[in-house]
Amino acid sequence: MQQAAQGQCLAYGDDPWTAAARARFCQVLGADVEVLFFLTGTAANMVAVAAMLQPWEALITSYHAHLYEDECGAPEKFSGCKIIPVDRADGKLTPEDVEPLLAVRGDVHRAQPRAISITQSTEFGRVYTLKEIRTLADYVHRHGMYLHMDGARLANACASLGCTLKEMIIDTGVDIVSLGGTKNGLLHAEALIVVHPALRERAQYLQKQAGQLVSKMRFVAAQFLAYLHEDLYLQLAAHANAMARELSQQLARLPGLRLAHPTEANGVFVYVPLEKVEALRKGGYFFLFDERTGMARLMCNYATELHHVELLVDHWARVLS
Ligand SMILES: Cc1ncc(COP(=O)(O)O)c(C=O)c1O
Repeated sequence: MQQAAQGQCLAYGDDPWTAAARARFCQVLGADVEVLFFLTGTAANMVAVAAMLQPWEALITSYHAHLYEDECGAPEKFSGCKIIPVDRADGKLTPEDVEPLLAVRGDVHRAQPRAISITQSTEFGRVYTLKEIRTLADYVHRHGMYLHMDGARLANACASLGCTLKEMIIDTGVDIVSLGGTKNGLLHAEALIVVHPALRERAQYLQKQAGQLVSKMRFVAAQFLAYLHEDLYLQLAAHANAMARELSQQLARLPGLRLAHPTEANGVFVYVPLEKVEALRKGGYFFLFDERTGMARLMCNYATELHHVELLVDHWARVLS
């Protein structure tokens, strides 16, 4: 970013940094894709959804998808389209979940499902396998639909599967990806990877309408150049995942604690006794994902250190004993 601050260049993405970051993404993905840079993941999702759907069409996603539950309805407001949620405990989607919802196709009284959105890694820290994604993509394409991937934590999923971005996005057949940077160490930096040619022009104009064609785009793009250099994004994510594995293993050994989901990326989900939440939080804030069951969410990131994990586990051990 210091280098990008030197000298003058054109604004709104017409600068060498943005061109270089786009070219680097195309090289890494081994494909000619459109890449648009954003300040927030919510805005990237808004544009992705609006690019895929006509006003009478609908998006199918998990009930727990961030773009359905946690974006204040922004993708629906921006696209003017309905989102149809599917309730599954692990937050993953399969063709079997989607199939019954396609029965309304051709019925003018019903919003027409045109796209599916999956989150990788999911809101419960699960990771779709490449085969699961390919199966969904094939299914979706057979039905003339699009597949969106909300990859706010895509680097963690790549690190977890030991796969490349190309294998994750291009080889599986995903059409459009909101690729996160901020949660993995960047500063207000997200990217929208538009693979399907029919979505490219729409996404460009929608980005401007969403107020995300920022004038000093070079500072976002420069970060992605560093992020992709020598797989820095994978190193940061692998570290976060390793810390989560450690935390998960240590918490699972504490009396009365039970993991709610397998730890496959950088999130740890564990059931905690509701009456002890406040005391446990004195060891560090955590999000109570489900106030009914006591499912708590603990996230590790690029900056989490082993002693953070140990401090938290020691505190929890004292509270729970
Ligand atoms: C899966 C997922 N998608 C999108 C977002 C949105 O990101 P932002 O907070 O940058 O709008 C988040 C943020 O928590 C997220 O977890």
